Amino acid sequence: MFPSGFYRDENDELNVQGIKISDLTNRFGTPLFIYDTGLMKERYEEFLDTVKNVNGNIHYAVKANDSLNIIKFFGKLGSGADIVSIGEFEKCVAAGISPNKMIFSGVGKNKDEIEIALRNNILQFNIESEEELNDIYNIASKLKLTANICLRVNPDIAPDTHKKISTGEKETKFGIDIDDVARLYKRLYELDYINPVGLGVHIGSQIFDFSFFEKAYLDLKNIADDLKKNGYKVPTLDLGGGIGINYNSNKKPNFITYKKIISDIFLKSDYQLSFEPGRSLIAEAGVLITKVIRNKKNKGKNFVIVDAAMNNLIRPTLYDAYHKIELVKDKIGEEIVVDIVGPICETGDFIALNRKLIEVKSDDLLTIRTAGAYASVMKSNYNSRVDAVEILIHDGKSYKIKQTDTIQNTILKEKMVDFNF
Ligand code: LLP
Repeated sequence: MFPSGFYRDENDELNVQGIKISDLTNRFGTPLFIYDTGLMKERYEEFLDTVKNVNGNIHYAVKANDSLNIIKFFGKLGSGADIVSIGEFEKCVAAGISPNKMIFSGVGKNKDEIEIALRNNILQFNIESEEELNDIYNIASKLKLTANICLRVNPDIAPDTHKKISTGEKETKFGIDIDDVARLYKRLYELDYINPVGLGVHIGSQIFDFSFFEKAYLDLKNIADDLKKNGYKVPTLDLGGGIGINYNSNKKPNFITYKKIISDIFLKSDYQLSFEPGRSLIAEAGVLITKVIRNKKNKGKNFVIVDAAMNNLIRPTLYDAYHKIELVKDKIGEEIVVDIVGPICETGDFIALNRKLIEVKSDDLLTIRTAGAYASVMKSNYNSRVDAVEILIHDGKSYKIKQTDTIQNTILKEKMVDFNF
């Protein structure tokens, strides 16, 4: 048995499930995303253990990584899905997840999306406004189909995370004002074709101070308990995702503290709980391997120019995010401070700034760690760059999980009209 995840062999070279990373780059090229199903399974099972004594269901937040085979893998382990578009819906169906295990989240579901979800008996809609309720009601009554509705609460909580991924404050576009929730929940009861199933909350992503979760969950439970006292049924509470993961160390996500918090709040209650973890299931199971193109010095500043760029991993420039970077084959040498940058023509195109790294040379391979979540899924083709190859390692074998376009394919797709300018 090999250790789960990416580990060093006796020659200090990075391996996964007994395969050398350099063998994989020889075969598939760079930049290359590699995912380890061993670590995915480990994290999924740990999460399951975290939520099982509070009657919790897992709905993998597909947005973290919507690769068909990754969704399929979590689906096979028993996961449902948290989706935010009909695109994600179709991918989950193709990956074998039944619509009756899907939660449809998101602030901007359009009318076509609502209709498709209804016709397919989706488990529930987590709705974010009274206006959205009105749209769903109109469509459901026209189709004579019942919509299961959960109200996403905006508890006006600002967790300890980057402003762009904080979703629990009243200034953000997310959720229904906490003071309006009870009134709206009662209104659900007045509408035909609307079946109230509960309340939900998701205050943001990459959260480490779990007291914010605690406060949000207590707020949610208080409203639900009050509604129940007044004779309304509130069968489920959806607690969202958001558990932070450690980008700069190999420490696991803190499922232990999370378990304690949810057990303290919910163990004695009879709510069916749903969880929507994304990052904590998949981030650590992925790496992005990149090759050094060349070094460059400019007035004493050192740049390492690599073949991965912001189109492969936008997190550093978008959220000032830190990703650990290591040589695939460790070597002894002097550490210098470098900016690790891509070939894209923007100053914002960087993977790491002011990073200590052993001096590298052209063709050395670097591992960008913790690139399983919100990495490839946020890719673009800026600068006419083609997608990186993605492979999954399962049972000691490597599988390419995406067909990537060559630039010739891309050109063909755009030759729809032959203008004779
Ligand atoms: N549920 C809802 C309603 C969400 O909006 C999200 C994430 C999740 C669950 C999953 O949260 P997680 O467990 O992954 O924290 N691109 C950003 C992260 C955006 C998160 C969006 N919503 C990043 O790279 O950090």
